[in-house]
Amino acid sequence: MKKIGVLTSGGDSPGMNAAVRAVVRKAIYHGVEVAGVYSGYQGLIEGTIKNLEAGDVGDIIQRGGTKLYSARCEEFRTEAGQLKAIEQMKKEGLEGLVVIGGDGSYRGAMALTKRGFPCVGVPGTIDNDIPGTDYTIGFDTALNTVIEAIDKIRDTATSHERTFIVEVMGRDAGDLALWAGLAGGAETILIPEESYNIDDMIDRLQKGRKRGKRHSIIIVAEGVMGGNELKALIKEKADIETRVSVLGHIQRGGSPTARDRVLGSLFGARAVEVLLEGVGGRAIGMKNHQVVDYDMTEAFTAEHNADMSLYTLSKELAI
Ligand code: F6P
Repeated sequence: MKKIGVLTSGGDSPGMNAAVRAVVRKAIYHGVEVAGVYSGYQGLIEGTIKNLEAGDVGDIIQRGGTKLYSARCEEFRTEAGQLKAIEQMKKEGLEGLVVIGGDGSYRGAMALTKRGFPCVGVPGTIDNDIPGTDYTIGFDTALNTVIEAIDKIRDTATSHERTFIVEVMGRDAGDLALWAGLAGGAETILIPEESYNIDDMIDRLQKGRKRGKRHSIIIVAEGVMGGNELKALIKEKADIETRVSVLGHIQRGGSPTARDRVLGSLFGARAVEVLLEGVGGRAIGMKNHQVVDYDMTEAFTAEHNADMSLYTLSKELAI
């Protein structure tokens, strides 16, 4: 290949910039030209594609968001949209594409690959919900953002002897809630992967209070229900007043942690190597501390499994 493209798509995640930088510089290292596609698949259809030099990706490794911008694009789901995208890439002389994003972005990349345009996927999402990789770029930063929030909430919860509900993102996955719950010492964690028992949860709250606990933190993953819905449920069942913090998009921003920068760099570089072998339809991941590549289809057909041992442990410790 003489020229490849790179884009970021779907919800942005901290560390995407490190991956973009790695793709651009690794390609240049191999004597291959690179172009950045702006605003994800939308930009691919519209042809907002610009050549990138090594200097164009300087000073971004420490920045959150994505320098290439991102979008969710309905038109790209159609055959017409995909053909338009391929036409634009051919016009620019691109022969392969690195797609950094979540499972929705991978579906698009696989569709292009099936149409004869090789794409390689790099997992970038705070949700950590892509099968085939133990970690996605952005998860660690988002997790640390949640922990920082929980620590602050705990201060005020203790002062006022209150129960707080913290709603975290994750779409249909509970990873963010699970890890944050364990690392933040939450009393209860509600995740989509595990059915919950409201009576048991209330019982734990009441026992904690009797034992003299001045604060209680309940982490609820958005995939289970909204924080305010849970608040109403607890009020109705046990007449306990709670306060709700919906962390929202704050979880998606901020300077990436060292771990996410390293992950972005490793994944971006490996994606270029795989693409330059002329192989499309592969996804990059981390399995047992090794960077791997695997069939991209697995990333959106297999089931994502959260590490449920964290759930068990958290329950044992939060007594
Ligand atoms: O996939 C990342 C994510 O932040 C999810 O955790 C969340 O459900 C969703 O994106 C929010 O999407 P949007 O930014 O389009 O509201």
